[in-house]
Amino acid sequence: MSDDVTATESWHALAAHQPHVFATTLRELFALDPDRGGELVVQAGDLRIDYSKNRLTRETVGLLLSLAREVGVEDRRDAMFAGAHINTSEDRAVLHTALRLPATAELTVDGHEVVADVHRVRHQMGRFSDEVRTGTWRGFTGKTITDVVNIGIGGSDLGPAMVCGALRDYHDGPRTHFVSNVDPADLLATLDAVNPATTLFVVSSKTFTTLETLSNARTARRWLVESLGDAEAVSRHFVAVSTNAEAVAEFGIDIANMFGFWDWVGGRYSVDSAIGLSVMLAIGKTGFAEFLGGFHTIDEHFSTAPLEQNAPVLLGMLAVWYNNFFDAGNRAVLPYSNDLARFTAYLQQLAMESNGKSVTRDGHPVTCNTGQVWWGEPGTNGQHAFFQLLHQGTRMIPVDFIGFAKPFRDVVTADGTSMHDLLISNFLAQTKVLAFGKTAEDIAAEGVAPNLVAHKVMPGNRPSTTIFAPKLTPGVLGQLIALYEHQVFVEGTVWDIDSFDQWGVELGKQQALELLGSICSADPPAPQGDSSTDALVAWYRTQAGR
Ligand code: F6P
Repeated sequence: MSDDVTATESWHALAAHQPHVFATTLRELFALDPDRGGELVVQAGDLRIDYSKNRLTRETVGLLLSLAREVGVEDRRDAMFAGAHINTSEDRAVLHTALRLPATAELTVDGHEVVADVHRVRHQMGRFSDEVRTGTWRGFTGKTITDVVNIGIGGSDLGPAMVCGALRDYHDGPRTHFVSNVDPADLLATLDAVNPATTLFVVSSKTFTTLETLSNARTARRWLVESLGDAEAVSRHFVAVSTNAEAVAEFGIDIANMFGFWDWVGGRYSVDSAIGLSVMLAIGKTGFAEFLGGFHTIDEHFSTAPLEQNAPVLLGMLAVWYNNFFDAGNRAVLPYSNDLARFTAYLQQLAMESNGKSVTRDGHPVTCNTGQVWWGEPGTNGQHAFFQLLHQGTRMIPVDFIGFAKPFRDVVTADGTSMHDLLISNFLAQTKVLAFGKTAEDIAAEGVAPNLVAHKVMPGNRPSTTIFAPKLTPGVLGQLIALYEHQVFVEGTVWDIDSFDQWGVELGKQQALELLGSICSADPPAPQGDSSTDALVAWYRTQAGR
């Protein structure tokens, strides 16, 4: 294959094919291929994924899969699962998939058996969470733990925060809280809501050097010591999740109370490692095992299903289709589940930190667009906010709709209607209206005044994918996360980028530390090298009375 994906045969074939699809509406595609609604559907674990309302034909699918084969998606996938150093810029294996292997599996990476390590830590987490949940582990004053505060940011926050929210109905352990922002408002709001004698802080940081996390953790420790009046209290109220034992010990947490993981777990892929400790504390080790089992189901599907039936491959290639052949710079993920309120925020880190890259793995500028902007909010709220643009705006925004057949609890209204049925009727109606719209003729036939017809026309022809699952359980949530992890991987493979580094966020961290000196010091601030930043620093110092 050529090193430049846009010079491959399959890319050229897709480019030649695109105008035919572009010229055909979804209405026409369904008329030409009436069975597509039942056939352009793939089943992955419990997830039923209907991709028929997308702007493609069966021929498009074949061409997209040829591209996947030509760029070596299968080989690269196998290399990832085997522990090859596919994160080339950091020279690391990428092995979040090892975190969900059963204890009976074996996987040697860099000469080391990793599955035993994974299960050793899982066992340590299980023992600890049992102790906290049963009240065997008590706070310094002898009280049981009622609240857990996870302090972390990025992958050390978004995953457990999203999952704890999503699995709210499965909580039977202490309440969970999440503090991430270095804005003191975040920590203070949480400290105001908890009792120091019954609160456990889980300081989660892969590196244990992250400014936000360490600032929040130090402040929380001071608050705890001042509240309980004894520095010895720290050992009963602080545990750590990290790969950096030295920094954890330096912070003052006994490494016996540290839960480890490894450099081959990327931050945004870490919710199924010890970073999920707060999830386990909330739902218990059995629920957590079910959650990991969901990931493993999709790992198996991704590694064994033929590409024609391989959900992460199909969805990843669909994203490439829109991004690179329709110039769709963004995509929306809209869960029709209030409990998945943070799911899209979680996916933003997963997708945008992974695929927000402009050079290929060997450092050459990419020749096509890479990662899209991901965004979204739960339905039905979004319908009353941004859906207008989805339906009648000038941009084509591909959408993923996620819904569940059964709610954890339903409510039947006074007139006998299930509120969950109302939710799902909205969910299905939106995919239908986006795809098929409403023509001027239909609208005129309803007697609408001629001057209003144009305003009411729903153009349709707007693509969406419907992901339906029986119920939002720990296992199904694991499946959903793994589905997105792997499709992001497929996209990155096509673009030949390193989806597992994040150098772009490092410079901002460094500059923040440099600027801190300038905005705090009693001396005049050092020039920043540009007149805008100099003026902003000067304005801030005046306002802050420095
Ligand atoms: O924001 C960049 C980042 O490096 C993320 O990739 C990571 O999840 C987050 O910071 C937190 O890092 P750590 O877990 O080391 O505190």
